[in-house]
Amino acid sequence: MKKHKAKERIEELREEVEEHNYRYYVLDDPVITDREYDELLAELETLEEEYPEFKSENSPTQRVGARPAEEFESAEHRHPMLSLSNAFEEEGVFDFDDRVRRELGVPGDITYLAEPKLDGLAVEVIYENGQLTEALTRGDGFTGEVVTRNIKTIRSIPLKLRSDGQELPPLVEVRGEVYMGKDSFRRMNERRAREDKDLFANPRNAAAGSLRQLDPSVTARRPLNAFFYDVGEVQGVELNSQEELLRFLPSIGLRVNPYIRKCSGIDEAVEYFGDIADRREEIPYEIDGIVIKINDFQLREVLGTKTRSPRWALAYKFPPERARTKILDIEVGVGRTGALTPVAILVPVEIKGATISRATLHNQDEIDEKDIRIGDEVIVQRAGDVIPEVIKPVKGERSGDEETFKLPDRCPVCGEPVKRPEGEAIHRCVNISCPARVKESIKHFASKGAADVEGLGDKLVEQLVDEGLVGDIPDLYRLSREEISNLERMGDKSAENLLKSLEESKEISFSRLLYALGIRHVGEHLARVLEAEYADFDELREADRDELEAIHEIGPEVAESIVNFFSSQRNLELIEGLAEVGLRYERPDRDVEETLDEKKFVFTGRLENFTRAEAQGLVERMGGRATSSVSSETDYLVVGDNPGSKYDRALEEDVTILTEEEFREKAESD
Ligand code: IVH
Repeated sequence: MKKHKAKERIEELREEVEEHNYRYYVLDDPVITDREYDELLAELETLEEEYPEFKSENSPTQRVGARPAEEFESAEHRHPMLSLSNAFEEEGVFDFDDRVRRELGVPGDITYLAEPKLDGLAVEVIYENGQLTEALTRGDGFTGEVVTRNIKTIRSIPLKLRSDGQELPPLVEVRGEVYMGKDSFRRMNERRAREDKDLFANPRNAAAGSLRQLDPSVTARRPLNAFFYDVGEVQGVELNSQEELLRFLPSIGLRVNPYIRKCSGIDEAVEYFGDIADRREEIPYEIDGIVIKINDFQLREVLGTKTRSPRWALAYKFPPERARTKILDIEVGVGRTGALTPVAILVPVEIKGATISRATLHNQDEIDEKDIRIGDEVIVQRAGDVIPEVIKPVKGERSGDEETFKLPDRCPVCGEPVKRPEGEAIHRCVNISCPARVKESIKHFASKGAADVEGLGDKLVEQLVDEGLVGDIPDLYRLSREEISNLERMGDKSAENLLKSLEESKEISFSRLLYALGIRHVGEHLARVLEAEYADFDELREADRDELEAIHEIGPEVAESIVNFFSSQRNLELIEGLAEVGLRYERPDRDVEETLDEKKFVFTGRLENFTRAEAQGLVERMGGRATSSVSSETDYLVVGDNPGSKYDRALEEDVTILTEEEFREKAESD
């Protein structure tokens, strides 16, 4: 075959194969047999092998292949991927509607779009000029993992958008849910059982575990599917409502859930909830409720969003799954803050595929109010990811041998008195050096995302504290090789490794350290927010409530918690102690922040000296922003080896192109 003929044929075959993928996976309406499909694909593979010069990343033959990655890179979402406020009762739904109408000043019915709430994992897929260029997990809503290769193995997600003769929009960022159907899940687990492999607890875990595989060829063998329901940014198309969006998505080849209903007024949405609940069994994938969204995008804008969830949408969830079992005993756990938590030890029972053998009883008041006793038959509930809890005893089943329970006056771990501060429901061990508290705070300090001390697992922390070698965090850094290697199950080698990772953990960013200290309510994200505002502890401890609350994303509870933390002499000593043992945190450089302030960077291709995450981290520390795709807003594109289509787009958009070397110079000189 002549070369140009081959090229033509390859292109023709690609289109044909993708068309059949679309008919089969999206429309569920195939027009050829599997065999005919396989023949087309085989012909394409042969030609691509013969003419490697025409290979393309977005050829349907490339869905499966791809080399395993070493780690997932992370990338920032251009627009945060929000979560949803929840309601479990009708009342909450009516409250939502009342609030919305009040805020919008609408006396009558609002038009809502109600959709099934899919129980999978949220992803964002980016199409540039119609080509799938990047896919991210939701991550923490701000930054996700780059799972492009894995997403491309999902046949119902087009590699190229359909155009039907129209011009394709330059940028489409779509959001949706990747899931595994109930039947596929059951069959996959049956097969795994036969092969003696671990089983997945439920379809959502299976979907998440399958998508987050470093080797995309594993993902390719897992039966994943996707529905799309939201957009981040779209350029070149005007969308004014959810309804328009839900028409637009299928027109470019993206699957949209078939059960969605338009509702005039909240009553219809509540009715829809009932209908969907009735049909839950027949729906071939897991759903955990419905999502009610205001249809009109303009109205959405008026309402805006809270930190993590929009004010214009609500998840109305099915009642959590419950089961009946028996309380064998009640144990008391002591947490990082000294809180005593009663935990029911149960006869193991299965709820939605997970075995439950412990459930929280929260606190003494709850036990008293519900009149829960040791030996009771009880109803246990598990809602989504939350810890299972005991709902109520089945009093009719009592024999009279059940025992009431009172939290002890003294800490079960250290024996010091337990106090219950006025107005609080929680009993706390007052001993700041209580081994249980010390252990929990050290475990948190050493965890990933915090000081990330490799090799310092929970068991070892327990040993170190139990042996009296460590009484607080700085003590970790005073450990000698001998002390460690004398511990059970530790040798010279592991002692050396631990000392090495401790040494490495001494250089830490300010935000990680802030997170590692375990200040209440300060998670990884808020720690970064604080780092952007304050250069060091000296500045932060001077901040009062008002100043903190003025920071976007920081509310009264967080502000109070921070102020409290720094008002404790003990905590100040901890910070000093860390400095004494040689812990040095990096100060974000203020001068640089100004020069690169808000400059937007995009990366393409493989960098030699940085991982993506490192490069992006660097940009952010200098006050710039790392985004995932090129637009007219982009200031710099940093180009590594084998750049992708972002490069072409950057040329079109007149974006300044930097080589890796130039980027490094810029970073260092600034
Ligand atoms: S809309 C700002 N629609 O729910 C609104 N989310 O709690 C963005 N989800 O992370 C989400 N089905 O994983 C939307 N039909 C649906 C959904 C849905 C499931 C998930 C999604 C998101 C979470 C929010």
